[in-house]
Parts: sequence; C-alpha cells; structure tokens
Amino acid sequence: MKETRLSITEKPVDTLDSDLVVYFATQRKEMPPLCDTTVTALVENAHALGDFTGKADEKLLYYPLAGTQTVSAKARRILILGLGMTDSRKPVPDFFEILRKQGGIIAKTCEKTKAGTLAVCLPQISGVSMEKTAEALAEGILLGDYRFSKYKQTTRKQTDYPGISSIWFSCDKGAPSARKGAKKAINAADAVCQARDMANEPGNGWTPEAFADYAGSLADTHGLTCTCLGIKEMKELGMGGILGVNQGSTTPPCLVILEYDPGKPSDTLLLVGKGLTFDSGGISIKPAAGMEEMKYDMCGGAAVLAAMTAVAEEKPDLRVVAMVPATDNMPSGSALKPGDVITHVNQVTSEVVNTDAEGRLILADALAHGIKTFQPDCVVDIATLTGAVIIGLGHHYTGMVSNSDELTRRLEAAGQDAGEPVWRLPLNEDYIKQIESKVADIKNTGGKAGGTITAAAYLSKFVGDTPWAHLDIAGTAWDFTEKSYIPKGPSGTGVRTFIQLIRSWKKWTPDG
Ligand code: BES
Ligand code: MN
Ligand code: ZN
Repeated sequence: MKETRLSITEKPVDTLDSDLVVYFATQRKEMPPLCDTTVTALVENAHALGDFTGKADEKLLYYPLAGTQTVSAKARRILILGLGMTDSRKPVPDFFEILRKQGGIIAKTCEKTKAGTLAVCLPQISGVSMEKTAEALAEGILLGDYRFSKYKQTTRKQTDYPGISSIWFSCDKGAPSARKGAKKAINAADAVCQARDMANEPGNGWTPEAFADYAGSLADTHGLTCTCLGIKEMKELGMGGILGVNQGSTTPPCLVILEYDPGKPSDTLLLVGKGLTFDSGGISIKPAAGMEEMKYDMCGGAAVLAAMTAVAEEKPDLRVVAMVPATDNMPSGSALKPGDVITHVNQVTSEVVNTDAEGRLILADALAHGIKTFQPDCVVDIATLTGAVIIGLGHHYTGMVSNSDELTRRLEAAGQDAGEPVWRLPLNEDYIKQIESKVADIKNTGGKAGGTITAAAYLSKFVGDTPWAHLDIAGTAWDFTEKSYIPKGPSGTGVRTFIQLIRSWKKWTPDG
C-alpha cells in the first residue's frame, strides 16, 4: 500500500512549497466569508461577484501568478473550500462529516490537477477541537486518495496519477492536538484502505488462504494471536455450516481467528465478519448479470480483520477477537443441494432450502464457536448478507438487528461519528417463526417478507443470551455513494465504526 507522509507544522502555509494549498472559508450572514488573511482579498472578490458564499459544497480553484499576488508565490494552485455556517450548532458528528467530505474533495482536486504535494491551512472552528478537525480532514483526504491499480499492467499509463505523496497540515496553535488527530486518522484510513484492497481483489486473488495469510502476518508484526481452523479441525468440531457451504468448492475453507489481548482483566468484544470470497449462489445459482460483484461478499471479513490493525496500533484496554469464516460458494456435483440438512457446531440442525442463503450458515458456526471459546461480553457480526436490506434501507444506512439496547446505542453512536450510519430493525418471535422447518430445527430462508430480519433470526439461534448485534452491509459495502471520500468500488464500511466503537469503549454494563 502507498505511504502518504502527513506532517503537522506551525509554519504558515504560504511558506510551504507544494503543488496545492488549501484554505477554508466560513460562511457568514450578510458578510463575505471569513478566512485566513492571506486569501481574504481573493475570497471577497469572488463573493462580490456572487460566485462564492462559503457554503459547505462550494469551492474555488485559483492559479496565482508568481510575484504578482499577495498570496504565496510558492503555491502553484490554491483551493478555497467552504465550511458553511460554523456557528449554527450543527450536531458535531455532522460537522465531522462535512470536514471528511471536504477532505475527499481535496483528494479529488489533487488527482485532477495531478498535485503530489499538498499543504492545508487548518481552520479554527469554534466548538470543534483542533484534534477533531485534523482527524476528520485527514481521514477524508487519505480515504479519498485511495486507488487500486494492481491489475492494471499493460494498460497502465506513464501519466497515471500515483496519488498524494506528502501532506502538510499547518496551524498556528494546537499543533500537538492536531498531531494526535492526524495519527488517529492515519490508523483508521490505513485500516479502511487495507479492507478495500482485500475487497478489490478478485475471487481468484483473495481466497480463504489469503485471509489466513493476512491475519498471520498481522499477528507476526503486532504480537497478536492468530489461529486458523482448516477442514480437519472443522470436521472435529462439527462445523456443518462452513463445511456445507464449502462442499462444492475445490478451494479449502478456513476459520480465521485473530486475538488482541491487553494482558489485564478487561471486557471482551468479539467481531465476526462474513468472508465469502465468491458467492455464485451454489446450486441455487445466481443470474449471470452482475455475478462478478459477488467477489465483494467478503467485505465483512475484510472489515473485522482490517480494524484489528488499528486495534494493534492503538492498544485499547479491551480484548478484541476477530473471526472470519472464509470460503467460496460454488455449484458442483459435490455441492450442498436444496433440501439438504446440515448440523451446526452447536448441534442445531438446519434445512438448506436455498444454497444462496449461505452467509448465515457460515456465520452461525463462527458465532457459536466464538462465543463458546471466548465468552465475550458482546459480539457484533458484519456481513453482506441480504439483498433485502437494499430494498429496505437503500444504500445509505447499514441495517442492524440486535438483542441489546445498550449495544445498539453504542453502535449507533459509533456509526454516526464515523459517518457510517446504522438503522435498527426489529426482531421477535414472529420473525423467528418464519424460519421454522418441517424437517429440521430451522431452515435457512424465511421467505421473501422481511428477508434481512429472518436472516438475523437465523443468527440469533447461535448467540444465546450474549449481547449481540448484526450489521447487514449488503447495501453499503460498495459502489453506493456520491461521497467524495469513498471512490467507486468497495467502501470499507464498518472498519471505522468498529474503530470508533473500541476507542470510545466504556466498561460493559447491559443497561449503559
Ligand atoms: N451475498 C448475498 C447477499 C447480497 C445480495 C449482497 C446483493 C450484496 C448484494 C447473499 O449470500 C445472498 O445471496 N442472499 C440471498 C438470500 C436469499 C436466497 C434468502 C438474497 O439476498 O437474495
Ligand atoms: Mn448468497
Ligand atoms: Zn453471500
């Protein structure tokens, strides 16, 4: 992955040599926008012409002539971005999202102008700490500067833009606090970009073994504990779900377990991510159109493992265990058939009505095994589980089902702070009834109605009383958005929600 240097300086931004210099302007009532004095004349001019009011979606790109302007001769391009009204008491997380989006616009402008070096004059915003300002902006820039060109070999042009190589954040006070924020942003953005890299790999490039190798090398470099269960161990444990889904495949499955332990008594959080490296649907095969997108069916697994890089870096007082059941889902003579009955690791039997509802089968084994092994205080699973969640919530909210109001609150807050909002859906006995089977304990589909919830109902049979939340990211994991800091392709959703959840962790009590 590309390394971008991000440094904080107290030197004025106009003394820095860079391809692009960025200033911010705050919108004001019946007055020109407020900005750094270096660019006041430019901004007032644009305001007088009616071209710029400082609204959060406005920008000015300006090309100074060396020696003839009051602004720095060193800056080759000047970008001025609106912040909107910063005194309107917007809920602060919304404001972070504005800054993140502006960060994305900065990255896009760099790409368009092929700017490799960047200097940003950090805005002082009342009610927002320099740490948060630097964090949100840096996150937006680093996330927006993501690209994946590994498989562009003979078509890669000499002129292709390699991305931003160095960033200066300039502030006249609060540099230590800005530095803290920038470091958090780097940890989070690195993690997200790793998740995107995994997801961008095709099915033949990112296999269950690749998940195992990734977790193994994370463990080696950061002193985490990694265990990978293969077919033999799964058979001994009776993981009929993962084994069943893998039955039609020529690629072996893997259950990857990566543990961070602070080494003192603490809460334990278990994260389980669906690592379906390619979902053809199996014998209940999917239509050909768009099937290639099902290489993204491992985004949940990518999210939990990538989040562990930030956990390893930030060393929270919380034990965190990430688990990824990984396999592809293929049709063949040996594949699971509709009507087959499997037995999960906790002895629950399941009638596989539709082999395309495979995510719940592999998550079920992982959840039951993880809860038994690690006795977590709470567990969160994340999966591209149902097309139904896209019908229900579109592409803007991740669907959530949970048996715990407190875990719901924590995830809602973390998602909001991260700009990855989640929306809770209900679950009760009526939905659980929909997955009753005539031949086994449960069946793996509950019909068309409430598909996201009946999928969660299936999972609920494997978590017992453990506080649990299920995140369905089928609508938010890729290609959903116009957000400047999320380029086309996989979004890496969930990673920053988990990082935020862990950063803000307070001793677990079920009632908050
Ligand atoms: N991986 C898919 C869900 C999915 C669909 C993700 C569209 C992203 C976009 C999952 O394994 C699946 O196929 N679910 C089925 C379940 C159904 C057969 C009960 C679905 O949603 O159609
Ligand atoms: Mn499927
Ligand atoms: Zn799937």
